[in-house]
Amino acid sequence: MTDKITDSYEIVDHEYDVVVVGAGGAGLRAGFGCAEKGLQTAIISKVFPTRSHTVAAQGGISAALGNMGEDDWRFHMYDTVKGSDWLGDQDAIEYMCREAIPAIIELEHYGVPFSRTAAGKIYQRAFGGMTTNFGKGTAQRTCAAADRTGHAILHTLYTQALKNKAEFFIEYFAMDLIMSDDGQCLGVMAWNLDDGKIHRFRAHQTILATGGYGRAYFSCTSAHTCTGDGNGMAARAGIPLQDMEFTQFHPTGIFGAGCLITEGVRGEGGYLTNSEGERFMERYAPSAKDLASRDVVSRSMTIEIREGRGVGEGKDHIHLNLMHLEPEVIHSRLPGIAESARIFAGVDVEKEPIPVLPTVHYNMGGVPTNYRCEVINPTKKDPNAIVPGLMAIGEAACVSVHGANRLGSNSLLDLVVFGRAAAIRASETIQPGSSHRPFDGDDGSKSLERLDHYRHANGSTRTSELRLNMQKTMQDHAAVFRTGEVLNEGVGKIDQVFQGKGDLKVSDRSMIFNTDLVETLELDNLLTQAVASMHSAANREESRGAHAREDYPDRNDDKWMKHTVIWVEGNGQTKIDYRPVVMNTLTNEVEPFPPKARVY
Ligand code: FUM
Repeated sequence: MTDKITDSYEIVDHEYDVVVVGAGGAGLRAGFGCAEKGLQTAIISKVFPTRSHTVAAQGGISAALGNMGEDDWRFHMYDTVKGSDWLGDQDAIEYMCREAIPAIIELEHYGVPFSRTAAGKIYQRAFGGMTTNFGKGTAQRTCAAADRTGHAILHTLYTQALKNKAEFFIEYFAMDLIMSDDGQCLGVMAWNLDDGKIHRFRAHQTILATGGYGRAYFSCTSAHTCTGDGNGMAARAGIPLQDMEFTQFHPTGIFGAGCLITEGVRGEGGYLTNSEGERFMERYAPSAKDLASRDVVSRSMTIEIREGRGVGEGKDHIHLNLMHLEPEVIHSRLPGIAESARIFAGVDVEKEPIPVLPTVHYNMGGVPTNYRCEVINPTKKDPNAIVPGLMAIGEAACVSVHGANRLGSNSLLDLVVFGRAAAIRASETIQPGSSHRPFDGDDGSKSLERLDHYRHANGSTRTSELRLNMQKTMQDHAAVFRTGEVLNEGVGKIDQVFQGKGDLKVSDRSMIFNTDLVETLELDNLLTQAVASMHSAANREESRGAHAREDYPDRNDDKWMKHTVIWVEGNGQTKIDYRPVVMNTLTNEVEPFPPKARVY
């Protein structure tokens, strides 16, 4: 059906039970799960599904299968709570770690080509912060398909989505949620980049699976498409973002290029050295060493560099060594990183170390949800009030299973477990084919006004210029180590960059593959998240997980064991509040893990 709601844009209308925005691991898992349960399901993606950033995940996906030795999902849960520095919600963490086991078996049955042990079981490697017996031993818990696990999973999930007849809208850019006057999500507006038409999707449930916003920073392992579009859409709909101060720096991005070198390298026996050839992690994390959690390793590397023990001409990076590994291990388990090191660092990993530097990799924060994936917009009366019709999953969401720091290989797990959970919840709450609530308040017109505004933007600042200012500000002011002074200066700067939106110049007016306009809409989303991150970081006066304040070096549970929620208005005004961390478990199969000192 087509229908005109403004003079200038032709609207194509659709009605679905469920619309999923994003076709990475989380979006595909949710999308085909809904379709499999008889719900008419659309999946909208700005890139071809198998180009989603999940494809770049390397080292693996965690689950206490116990294929390589003793393991238990409760050990996994303990590690995840500790990894989160006690900011993760324990009900959601229990759910994820328990469901991990059936989720992996399910993936195997769908056809994911996992690497194998000699006995034919799924191969599992060691990863940072993963232990047995509540911190006493080292767990081999990360299920791997060589060092291309995300690639293997994404392609498999895409074939499942095709098989289950989810309907794809590929190279459609989702712009805004359509909200009713009383705060229910009624669907989403999207732009077909190929023919320029606008599509208006009505849905009983809209699921945001739009990934993280790594591109708010200058140097990151994220694809250029990682602009957190769902987070921007949620913020414009009056929904807060949660725990945005927690940005993960992966210890081993290739120096200069930023590309990921998987933690699986250290899981297979690789190690870091400084300019003196010293394995310095032994000093910082005597027990876990190179396999401490990522925040700990990234901070240790930064200290080494600051204290003059960095390598290279500028003494500004660190060496990752794997020359001592058997060539067979490299060829069979780490072929992808050998190639990346050759292409992006000119290094033969069998002969030389890889130059690495902590690089932005993951956003622990996002749209707040409960463990059923329902989006939360807290009120004074109800800190857990849900937004009817809206879910968020994957890196776009803050469930919160990662709290202040995510453990490596818990991200792919989060995607599949909560993608599946969203489908389960949608099937419990939606009657397939039931009629849709009529629009009230907004009918998508607000989104078109915004689109029109940017399409005709005729100021003096190019989108790329403003984006660079944002990225440099984030890189300089919200880094591995932070102080109140640096963060407050960052707040001033990022607020000013945000106001630069008013002076943008978009040179192309076309609606057909207008990349200048797409990048401008993406920048609008990024700026909201950059402001949210900087303000939230300046407000949190403690150190916890990835948020390391030199002026407040200790974790302060009495005052700060709570989630930040921040609302960012269209004019850049912010409002910050806090909501409690969930400390209870879902079942009596495990007791909650009370906070204690976090040492590795
Ligand atoms: O190091 C890695 O392979 C990344 C994994 C992850 O972020 O979970």
